[in-house]
Amino acid sequence: MCGIVGYIGKKEKRDFLIDGLKELEYRGYDSAGIAVLKDGEITSFKATGKLSNLDHKVENFSSTGFGVGIGHTRWATHGKPTEANAHPHWGQFSYIIHNGIIENYKEIKDELLKDGITFLSQTDTEVAVHLFEKNVRELGDCFKAFEKTIASLHGAYAILLITKKEPDVIFFAKNAVPLLLGKSSEGEVYFSSSDAPLIGLAKEVVYLEDAQYGWAKNQDITLLKEHVQQQLDFKPLIHDKLSAQKDGYRYFMEKEIYEQSVVVGETLMGRIKENRVILDELCGFDFSRIDAIKICACGTSYHAALSASYMFERLSKIRCNVEIASEFRYKEPLLDPKTLFIVISQSGETADTLEALKMAKKSGMPTLAICNVDNSSIVRTADATILTRAGIEKGVASTKAFATQVVTLWLLSLFVGTAKNTLDEEILKSEIRALLHIPLVLKVNEAKHEKIRRLSKRYLHGHGFFFIGRDVFYPLALEGALKLKEISYLHAEGYPAGEMKHGPIALADSELFTIALMPKNLLYDKMKSNVEELGARDSTLLVISPEPFELADDFIKTQAHSHMMGEFFEMMLMTQLLALEISIRLGNDVDMPRNLAKSVTVE
Ligand code: F6R
Repeated sequence: MCGIVGYIGKKEKRDFLIDGLKELEYRGYDSAGIAVLKDGEITSFKATGKLSNLDHKVENFSSTGFGVGIGHTRWATHGKPTEANAHPHWGQFSYIIHNGIIENYKEIKDELLKDGITFLSQTDTEVAVHLFEKNVRELGDCFKAFEKTIASLHGAYAILLITKKEPDVIFFAKNAVPLLLGKSSEGEVYFSSSDAPLIGLAKEVVYLEDAQYGWAKNQDITLLKEHVQQQLDFKPLIHDKLSAQKDGYRYFMEKEIYEQSVVVGETLMGRIKENRVILDELCGFDFSRIDAIKICACGTSYHAALSASYMFERLSKIRCNVEIASEFRYKEPLLDPKTLFIVISQSGETADTLEALKMAKKSGMPTLAICNVDNSSIVRTADATILTRAGIEKGVASTKAFATQVVTLWLLSLFVGTAKNTLDEEILKSEIRALLHIPLVLKVNEAKHEKIRRLSKRYLHGHGFFFIGRDVFYPLALEGALKLKEISYLHAEGYPAGEMKHGPIALADSELFTIALMPKNLLYDKMKSNVEELGARDSTLLVISPEPFELADDFIKTQAHSHMMGEFFEMMLMTQLLALEISIRLGNDVDMPRNLAKSVTVE
């Protein structure tokens, strides 16, 4: 997740680029940079850390009169958040900014290195500018060279490129990450990752589609897809800043639920190749010396950890034990250097998780962080980190961070199984197939959302909720209950379905709502018996399953997935949407629920 902006026109370029990036800072704030091309010269500035550092650097820079400018705020994916890795990246006569991941950058880089090209950064992006310049030298034409460059890139990208060879032009391309183009009534042209920076400036915008690319020369815009010229479908721009940041969604939580398909795609990007999981981040670990895994985390991240414990034992055949970080800290735990210690955290700042990590590290255990925020305290402390790449999560109730954590842990369990030679090749292949399908599973079906919106009105009162599931659906039940309680303030508990008869079933009556997660691929008949036991005691039943259930008071039909994790992620979506709709009906502040904070830096 990064944010990009671009401008063609006569006004002060610094102002739009910096103000525009401020609107996009939520997309990443490891470093930022701008480049302005005017009168044949390019001036560029970069700074690490928050955007205010760049703002300081450009205080005395002014650039009015016709020219072009590009700006970028970074969320590191390849290479540390240093100034050298900040965008723009440049070659001999061109500058580029990029949001996304170029999956085949290593192959391209190897070829360019053979040509004697020197690289200044560790990023995937830099290959694109050198490849463009190589193509310019070969073809003698910037437009053809850009087209050829884009055709060579695999992965996700929103790219803006400027070059001294065509000083009035911004070249652009979009695939799998957002990019829009706007025009003002004075004929200026704007680019941005979202419409928020363009409000009050552009009159109309085009939301580019995947695989589209082109160039804007002064006010003339050429848009292409697979070499075929495209119509520019301009739409009037809305004028409300806050709703622009939310992209038209009612709450950030809703936006983040809808974003899950895209961000999980980013989590997977570059990490699967030829039926292998590639986690370069782990090159320092010797898995032959590791015979167990311990995971510590809090809240939602703890639920992701619990889900992972099933995957590690089932797929990697390695013992895995999970603890709540605040419990672990004070229990005088036995720490074994042959156990890999994993912490999971969205923010990377949770005090209990950080302290647990420090204890493990001090004891000599190898440590690994699964985290969403690069450069956070947890990332800086752990021996290695796998970034989850969910992008900034604004809603206090975590949604997309959870989805990306589970996907990362799934990748990790396959990686460990391969490294330890405990995972069968055929199983690995079918797991990878299932993993690659998850972004599709996470696309929200509007009709289902509407159904949940309608049935949510039945679930506003009563004396409580049981979310029940078995196996990996038990942590999902815990997470479903946590989502509901934190934003609706209704009492909800997650339980392993088989555990109900050992006490909790005493609470069952019609005012007790049971949300039953009934996947078809896992223990369906056992689950059915557990749900029947609750139905027989008059509990109101909301069944989420691909299979209709005769006793259900309400039924949300999920698709028939061939892998249980397909069912897992679809059911996760359903429980998130249910919590959201109940909270909205109750009139609560969905994004900022009472008594909570996004980052818990106290014990
Ligand atoms: C719930 C939620 C919290 C966090 C917990 C840990 O929606 O967001 O339960 O999961 O506070 O936070 P991180 O993951 O930042 O360590």
